[in-house]
Amino acid sequence: MRNVIVTGGSRGLGLGMARGLAASGFSVIAIARSRTHEIDEAAQEAVAAGTGAIHFLPFDFANLDDIPALFATLREQHGPIYGLVNNAGIGTEGVLATMDVSKIEALVRINTIAPLVVTKHAVRSMMSAGNGRIVNISSIIASTGYSGLSVYAATKASLIGFTKSLAREVGTLGITVNAVAPGFVETSMTGGMDEAHRATIARRSALRRLPDVDDVVHAVDYLMSERARNVTGTVLTVDAGNTA
Ligand SMILES: NC(=O)c1ccc[n+]([C@@H]2O[C@H](COP(=O)([O-])OP(=O)(O)OC[C@H]3O[C@@H](n4cnc5c(N)ncnc54)[C@H](OP(=O)(O)O)[C@@H]3O)[C@@H](O)[C@H]2O)c1
Repeated sequence: MRNVIVTGGSRGLGLGMARGLAASGFSVIAIARSRTHEIDEAAQEAVAAGTGAIHFLPFDFANLDDIPALFATLREQHGPIYGLVNNAGIGTEGVLATMDVSKIEALVRINTIAPLVVTKHAVRSMMSAGNGRIVNISSIIASTGYSGLSVYAATKASLIGFTKSLAREVGTLGITVNAVAPGFVETSMTGGMDEAHRATIARRSALRRLPDVDDVVHAVDYLMSERARNVTGTVLTVDAGNTA
């Protein structure tokens, strides 16, 4: 079974990806700080279904210096890495003029530096194998303005620049690198948004609704599959036409 790492795989979009990729026959290694009841349940469901598997590994991506040791453990316990979904992220809001530097630093560390360093280690395994799939979870906020999310937007835009250049760098080795840019999806990250605000976003979207977790999961599942073997360096937007 091919191994796929899903960072932030314990809840929200990452949990859905872990479930979906296991259903597609991958052995998913979900990594987050805390194990959840839902990821344990998903692992049991994968065993019962007999297609794919889900393993959980606790790790805090703020600890950049420990990422090499994380990959040594992964190599020892699971073998080569076929796929990586850089999904873990934080969505701290704040007006830039009053935002603590510590909050800016944490956003950049978790949303930008950690995925870059994680990819550095994962791509080495893919280079040895001569194939691989990398999917970076960006956001429509990377290219549309949203007051109160300027730092978050900067981190999500960075992943798009990273995607395009890395796709060029590793393409000849049979590795694809793509980004998925979801619109607003209901998860714990966006739980603070009230119903009226959600309705406004839906009203402004071409399809007059919001995408859900499964819509994003299907995009990731496609990019991870053989069907996407000639798709690289792209950004797949899943936003029910919010930015159309
Ligand atoms: N929801 C949306 O509307 C939306 C839209 C566009 C893009 N996105 C992007 O999609 C991704 C997932 O978002 P979500 O809505 O599913 O968020 P979420 O429900 O808050 O889940 C975030 C995941 O990341 C993990 N995580 C956070 N900090 C971590 C750290 N320091 N080390 C390890 N794991 C960490 C969390 O687990 P622990 O807290 O246990 O570590 C959790 O598994 C993010 O990159 C987000 O920017 C979301």
